[in-house]
Amino acid sequence: MTDLPGIGSAMADKLASAGFGTIEALAAALPQEVASLTGLSLSASQRIISAAREALDLGFKTADEIYEKRMKVARITTGSRNLDSLLGGGVETQIITEFYGEYGSGKTQICHQLCVNVQLPAEKGGLDGVAAYVDCEGTFRPERIVSMCRAAGLDPSRTLKNIIVARAYNSDHQMLIVDGVQDMVNEKNIRLLVVDSVTGFFRAEYPGRETLVMRQQKLNKHLHSLSRIAYMYEIAVVVTNQVVARPDTVFGDPIAAAGGHVLFHAPGARVFLKKLKGNRRIAKLVDSPYLPEGEAVFELTEDGIRDPAGD
Ligand code: GTP
Ligand code: MG
Repeated sequence: MTDLPGIGSAMADKLASAGFGTIEALAAALPQEVASLTGLSLSASQRIISAAREALDLGFKTADEIYEKRMKVARITTGSRNLDSLLGGGVETQIITEFYGEYGSGKTQICHQLCVNVQLPAEKGGLDGVAAYVDCEGTFRPERIVSMCRAAGLDPSRTLKNIIVARAYNSDHQMLIVDGVQDMVNEKNIRLLVVDSVTGFFRAEYPGRETLVMRQQKLNKHLHSLSRIAYMYEIAVVVTNQVVARPDTVFGDPIAAAGGHVLFHAPGARVFLKKLKGNRRIAKLVDSPYLPEGEAVFELTEDGIRDPAGD
């Protein structure tokens, strides 16, 4: 941080204690935020943010530079080949992937599986990295991780040590935790950040039509930071969103009745999950920056996410 022009060690400390401990965090901040959290003037805040952005080279890039960044996109296998091919090889780094669907559709199970799989070496579909799990619903279950490890022949205790879990208690807390994750990404080699569910607290705290605008603004801000984290640190960000399925349609317009999916303003992939018979689930890629829309059937098993038997 002190490499930046105009930032000495005292200033770096001040910024760090206000939550801007890295150049990335500073570059992603708003001048108003920095000013109010540090007591610096607005223009001084603007100046150091610009310095951070320059240091990270955030501005116009030539298309070949963008291409080079795209070439660095890596993927985490979901455990199901069907689901992986729907996603173009697995859950991508650099963007947010949203899994949305009704209760029991498999959102949390997929998150658990990804926390295991991100730890695999590249040749097995992982990123050799650590998972950070923001648990907003109290549904993280280490024993599910243990079963998944056993099935994959991984050492459960080692795998559990590479998943850091934070239980969030309200939407502000959830946002604060995500801010804190930024400081740990490089240090702890975090390659996957899960927020399960990203919308629950926001819905509960801002019920009804009157508060809809405020809810959406706050949620947008949160998604914006998540999306920046994904892009800047080149990690996978996975969020879940519970929606109520409309009984009269298979896929028709599942979102309309449910209050909308959340990623309207953030680049990413949206995957709608729907229950089929028993443990089978169907996933539909609803919106992706470049992949064709499509569907995939997978199964929730004791061992984790798998292709349906017989496929
Ligand atoms: P909400 O959080 O309530 O919105 O649901 P969700 O989409 O997160 O659902 P979740 O991922 O928790 O899926 C629950 C389903 O996973 C259960 O109904 C089971 O079908 C399946 N499941 C969970 N654990 C096991 C397990 O140990 N064995 C098997 N076979 N299936 C399991
Ligand atoms: Mg869940």
